[in-house]
Amino acid sequence: MAILDVSYNTQEFEVRAEFDEKGRITHTCTKKICEILDKSGFVIIPHLLSDQEAKAGLKIVNDSIADPNREMSSFASQTDIRYRRRDFCPLPSTKPVISYATMLCQRLENVLGEYCGRTRQVLEISTMTSYFGSSHQYIHSDPEGVLCMFVAVDNVSPTQGGTLFVPGTHKFSGADMQYNGKVSLLMHLYQALSNFRILRYNLTNLWRIRKVVKPPILRKEFIERLFSRCFDNHQPNLARFILGKNAVFSLNFFDIFNIFRNWKAINETFRLVKTSPEKGTVILYRSDMLHAGPDNQSQSPRFFFGMSIARDIIFPKQWRDGYSPHASLLSQPISLSDLLDSHESVTNDYLSSEHQQSFMFESRI
Ligand SMILES: [Fe+2]
Repeated sequence: MAILDVSYNTQEFEVRAEFDEKGRITHTCTKKICEILDKSGFVIIPHLLSDQEAKAGLKIVNDSIADPNREMSSFASQTDIRYRRRDFCPLPSTKPVISYATMLCQRLENVLGEYCGRTRQVLEISTMTSYFGSSHQYIHSDPEGVLCMFVAVDNVSPTQGGTLFVPGTHKFSGADMQYNGKVSLLMHLYQALSNFRILRYNLTNLWRIRKVVKPPILRKEFIERLFSRCFDNHQPNLARFILGKNAVFSLNFFDIFNIFRNWKAINETFRLVKTSPEKGTVILYRSDMLHAGPDNQSQSPRFFFGMSIARDIIFPKQWRDGYSPHASLLSQPISLSDLLDSHESVTNDYLSSEHQQSFMFESRI
């Protein structure tokens, strides 16, 4: 996106996966991963999964999209979800889904153990697919106290919309003391400035793609995206922006004044980094850091498998409102130890396609 200054160089945030004899991330590798996660709020782990394992994840994503009775998530942009510009689905606790989640958690056990206690809840397991015609999310942070995982089950090109991060914006004890105690103000101003640029981008992009996207953006969708009459914190969403009712994006006179006053400090302190992970890569991030899901500017869908694990206790309403647990996960909660102690991890046998087919949408744990 030309109007946002984004870096695509993610080398300093990457730690290539190395495994011990049990197939888990080594202690040396864990140390490097935690250092980056603590410093920047997110880390990219290439080659955590083999091509075959990534393919098995892609099949889970595609099977979920093909299920006409699937639940739909309420996060991202609700308008995008309603018009199928994004397909974000909480996954049911079926055997293939739990086996896949088990494999990921067991492989990352040493890292997860640094952030999440064994009794902490798995808040959601989901798929995140975005298509050409989706909107660019506003930069926001998710409810705090959660570790999130995005799994690239297929290659994600820069134009397909890998996640955008603002390094170093996560919360920790004393974080407010950074930059002579001005970090909260600077962060707020940077978020507002970036979101104003995203607003401009979404407006021009909506006009540009309205006829070329398939299916085309007709009048009803165009107006809904422009004004977001139904609840939506993303999209151009002019009505909620003007009324000051957008929870992730507001801009008042004092903000504008302060942006100009602190222009140099804002731009020297923060930057945007856009990921474009190869298949088999896993991204971990602290939920409270600033981030956004970009639009997909290519004709190829972008696929992610995702999980969120609580780092602390969570109020039930916050769990339901802030995340998208499937009904099966709500009725039968799963803790991290349930996955770490499970013997249901993916096996080579499971990775054969006939075996997967016999599992899909069958038994629940
Ligand atoms: Fe988010």
